Amino acid sequence: MAEDKTAGTEVSEAQIAVHWKEEETYPPNPQFIAQANMTDPHIREKFGEENFPNCFKEYADMLDWYEYWTKTLDTSNPPYWKWFVGGKLNACYNCVDRHLPKYKNKTALHFVPEPENERIEHITFQELYVRVNEFAALLKDFCGLKRGDRVTLHMPMTVELPITMLACARIGVIHSQVFSGFSGKAAADRIVDSGSRVLITGDAYYRGGKLLDHKEKADIAVAEAAKEGQKVDKVLIWQRYPGKYSAQTPLVEGRDFIVNDVIKNYYHQEVEPEKMNSEDVLFLMYTSGTTGKPKGAQHSTGGYMAYVTGTSKWIQDIHPEDVYWCMADIGWITGHSYIVYGPLALAASSVIFEGVPTHPDAGRPWRVAEELDVNIFHTSPTAIRALRRIGPEEPHKYKYHFKHMTTVGEPIEPEVWRWYYNEVGKKEAVIVDTWWQTETGGFLCSTVPAIDNMKPGSAGPGVPGIYPEILDDNGEPLPRGSNKAGNIVIKNPWPGLMQTIWRDDERFVKQYFERYCANKNSTDWHDWPYFAGDGAVEAPDGYFRILGRIDDVINVAGHRLGTKELESASLMVQEVGEAAVVPVPDPIKGVLPHVFISLKPGFEPSKEIEQKVTDMLTREIGPIAKPGRVWIVPDMPKTRSGKIMRRVLAAVAAGKDTGDVTTLANPEVVEKIKALA
Ligand code: WTA
Repeated sequence: MAEDKTAGTEVSEAQIAVHWKEEETYPPNPQFIAQANMTDPHIREKFGEENFPNCFKEYADMLDWYEYWTKTLDTSNPPYWKWFVGGKLNACYNCVDRHLPKYKNKTALHFVPEPENERIEHITFQELYVRVNEFAALLKDFCGLKRGDRVTLHMPMTVELPITMLACARIGVIHSQVFSGFSGKAAADRIVDSGSRVLITGDAYYRGGKLLDHKEKADIAVAEAAKEGQKVDKVLIWQRYPGKYSAQTPLVEGRDFIVNDVIKNYYHQEVEPEKMNSEDVLFLMYTSGTTGKPKGAQHSTGGYMAYVTGTSKWIQDIHPEDVYWCMADIGWITGHSYIVYGPLALAASSVIFEGVPTHPDAGRPWRVAEELDVNIFHTSPTAIRALRRIGPEEPHKYKYHFKHMTTVGEPIEPEVWRWYYNEVGKKEAVIVDTWWQTETGGFLCSTVPAIDNMKPGSAGPGVPGIYPEILDDNGEPLPRGSNKAGNIVIKNPWPGLMQTIWRDDERFVKQYFERYCANKNSTDWHDWPYFAGDGAVEAPDGYFRILGRIDDVINVAGHRLGTKELESASLMVQEVGEAAVVPVPDPIKGVLPHVFISLKPGFEPSKEIEQKVTDMLTREIGPIAKPGRVWIVPDMPKTRSGKIMRRVLAAVAAGKDTGDVTTLANPEVVEKIKALA
């Protein structure tokens, strides 16, 4: 699997014929089927093309609307699709207020601190309502924020993060949460692009047993944003321990404010939810693309909320009485859609976990599951691989029972899938392997858990209402079920798809539609397939197996990093002349970036320079960009037109055959690089 992925980033997937053994399928457990939300075997037909787009009314009807929409889908200005046009709603109302009559005393959020000697916090829907309202009042009054303004959040995994998001949504402020592991500089880029004048952060958080100073990143973020012309006038800081400041970094007078103090002025205040248009922006989520600058995927209120609620109900099988734990970070799209908005819209109890799953040992997740009686569990192949390697026997020591489990973010090796099924799921839980992206808002391919058999390593067919297809490089569909690799596209619009890239409509069209758009003047959606940028194959049973990215994006532990971003950061090291970043298979992380650099004249290779590159990547992007290895090479292998041959570097780093290099401008350098391996 990992090898397919690596290959996929260098050669067009369409050129690779993939042959692997068909995996045996697993039927869902009858007990699961008996309680499942979606058991209609004809659901995909009901969501088929004849009933499109009106089928999605079923998802929209899971929400409460102030005003019902007049048009399900407006395709008049492709590819800027508009869903549920004319409808008015509020995301926060749908996640909080509407549950109060029935569920006010039920837990909405369980916050699990990393240190095991700290109690798990349980926040009821009533308390969530109170806390969201007072913070919304603070945002309005103290920060002067209003509908349509953007706010950057750089918050760790605490219960205050969903409170902050929901408070923004309540008053129509667009939130842009940046993964807390990202650097201050990365936060600055996103502050500038979104035009935020308020930054909301936390003072500190636990990771791997250490209380990290997070506030220091805010100072860097504000300074860097100012350099690029974006002034941040207020930094709001939530305290990890209310009443106690846990960072070393001093507060800046008049700019930095401790939320836990200021909020006292807003206790008992209530704020009417804004009646948002279906098409109003709910949030931005920045993601890496083929060029250096991260792009702000812009998600709508009505379409997005309908889509994540519908898929949470049918694919995650969430019922209000479930305890649902998605171990992702809310700083990624998975957390937005499937920790916060989807589960809360369905009145589930959603778990927020502060720490590292393998800390202090690989039994931790299972102890949490046991204590909270979690019955739906959601994580990534990276986490599964790590837990399997360190604690293969651990799950059996704990008395939890999952009815349902999810894997998301990267392809899962069938062997790892089987450990997840047999050991973590104790052969009771169904598994869904959900393929989707930041841009798509919610799931694209997955089995419907009570209806379809599971197949290790395959995401499955399109979920109801999603019509995937595999195209070759010329835009011709590959024969259905041919098991041939090509580029996966979604033929139709769907409500969860982002509206555009924030302030970059052109890039939106270019990146996702231009490749396969048959006729740019057409207002027929059939002419505008969505290009996902992943390679995939379709088996005869209609299950899709995802091979990985086909563009210059590396998927490290389920997180997308732009190779260009990493290369640009490497070039900031003074000695570095050229840099090339390639993905290399790794048994735990799936893939790690390896950085190849050649030095400017006059510099000699040294361990110090290697370290400088590593430090630069960590500082500029964050620890997730830490390279597996920095290679200092005498020169880059290049084509005659001067392009760096990343394919050759990737092969050397992975210890594989480099293939024919005789057409290179400098074939002799390949041997020299191999000698460094
Ligand atoms: C990859 C994460 C295989 C894929 C939700 C996609 C997957 C990228 C799967 C999006 C899966 C995600 N199987 N590959 N189940 N899920 N991917 O934007 O390459 O962080 O394009 O969204 O992750 O990553 P993103």
